Amino acid sequence: MEKIIILDFGSQTTQLIGRRLRELNMYCEIVPYNKFPEKDESVIGVILSGSPFSVNDSEAFKPDLSAIKGKYPLLGICYGAQYLAYISGGKVEKGDSREYGRAMLTPIDKEDLLMKNISDYSQVWMSHGDTITVVPDHFKIIAHTRDVKCAAYRIEEEKTWSVQFHPEVFHTEIGTTILDNFLNICGAKKDWTPANFIESTVNQLKKQLANDKVILALSGGVDSSVSAVLLNKAIGKNLTCIFVDNGLLRRNEFEKVLNDYEHLGLNVVGIDAKEHFYKELAGIKDPEKKRKIIGKGFIDVFDREAKKRKDIQWLAQGTIYPDIIESLSITGTTIKSHHNVGGLPEKMNLKLIEPLRLLFKDEVRRVGRELGMNERLIRRHPFPGPGLGVRILGDITPEKVRILQEADDIFINGLREWNLYDEVWQAGVILLPVQSVGVMGDERTYENVIALRAVTSADAMTADWARLPYDFLAKMSNEIINKVRGVNRVVYDVSSKPPSTIEWE
Ligand code: XMP
Repeated sequence: MEKIIILDFGSQTTQLIGRRLRELNMYCEIVPYNKFPEKDESVIGVILSGSPFSVNDSEAFKPDLSAIKGKYPLLGICYGAQYLAYISGGKVEKGDSREYGRAMLTPIDKEDLLMKNISDYSQVWMSHGDTITVVPDHFKIIAHTRDVKCAAYRIEEEKTWSVQFHPEVFHTEIGTTILDNFLNICGAKKDWTPANFIESTVNQLKKQLANDKVILALSGGVDSSVSAVLLNKAIGKNLTCIFVDNGLLRRNEFEKVLNDYEHLGLNVVGIDAKEHFYKELAGIKDPEKKRKIIGKGFIDVFDREAKKRKDIQWLAQGTIYPDIIESLSITGTTIKSHHNVGGLPEKMNLKLIEPLRLLFKDEVRRVGRELGMNERLIRRHPFPGPGLGVRILGDITPEKVRILQEADDIFINGLREWNLYDEVWQAGVILLPVQSVGVMGDERTYENVIALRAVTSADAMTADWARLPYDFLAKMSNEIINKVRGVNRVVYDVSSKPPSTIEWE
């Protein structure tokens, strides 16, 4: 399958380049700036991303591009554009007027392939302190803005183009046209669709797994569910799915999810391990210790179940692309490992299979729809692996779980009834280790406080608190306090991420 390689120089918007190309039905892979896959014959073009550095910084990334430049169609974006100018004898300096934000782009050469269908004064988004001040002789400037003489250029004897603005960001109105023009330069077929993905993945899984047996941990979320359906299509009964009730699921979640899976024809074993988890967690207050105990409890249950089925060779996981990109991260910032069964493959000598490892979340949803999965399952909010365990602050008891499940159920059902569920990325309730005074009837009460949390987000890396209607919040507060025994106060969390996080622990 043909692909575009995006070399990541560390810009915050590199992932967006990938998304835009995928939206154009073009398959692409993001790799660190110095990890170009030289032997991969399916590469039809290369994009150089932006970077937090200036090309003049001593710590800037300066890879040798001799295996790429002039050999593949190449598009430099921002730092990528400046780096190509810099290594070709041009000069990059701090601009007089630093260009951030909106600018109006006018093509100079309307015949140029990258500028096809771009009108004069098209809005683009700039974000750089440096600018190219000396343009090498063999470069041809193809577009400018008021402040940037060389907003886009082409290297004439090669298939190399560059833009100093960011075509991938939403505010560059012509961004998709520019990227599409580049794909046409590459001669791309642009046939990366959910249906094609399913067909090629199922074929590949069939070939790779043949008659082998696979075990998969279902979480009820969309990623593991779509992975299961794909594998089921490929190997049917050779797939065993395990769904563990750790006592920290939402109210009736275990039954509901098992029911959903039954409809999908999956071979699912539901394990009730509530008591095991409650016992291990008793009296533990420290959030990290709780997380570790939950993780280990899960591994223990899973390990036991897998051992019962001796002939299993593979462990399947619903890992998706952002997890992979984060673990490849060149700037070495956040590296999350949210995988429920981390640690298992080595322990049990299982080989790992991750059918969704190249997809973004919205693509997983598109694939799920194409597979005919029900919309409720596909649109389900993300839910953390340790479940309500990280939403009960302090130690965990079955009684606290009951309180939280009841309040959470009212809140989530309320969101659905008020048609707000799909407007938010994720929502939940947190049980605080705080009691407060209230009055119910003629009696003074001294009971628990809970916090409602609902956020909007695109990928959980950043999030904002959802502006839910006051009337809705009032209704929720009333209903929770009236119906949930043990709660006499409800608050709404109005913190964004950063500086807060989505979960409280
Ligand atoms: P934070 O709290 O870091 O959460 O802003 C970001 C996203 O990750 C989820 N989350 C987890 N998921 N295991 C998981 O599988 C975990 O330990 C975990 N902690 C947070 C959180 O619900 C949100 O979607």
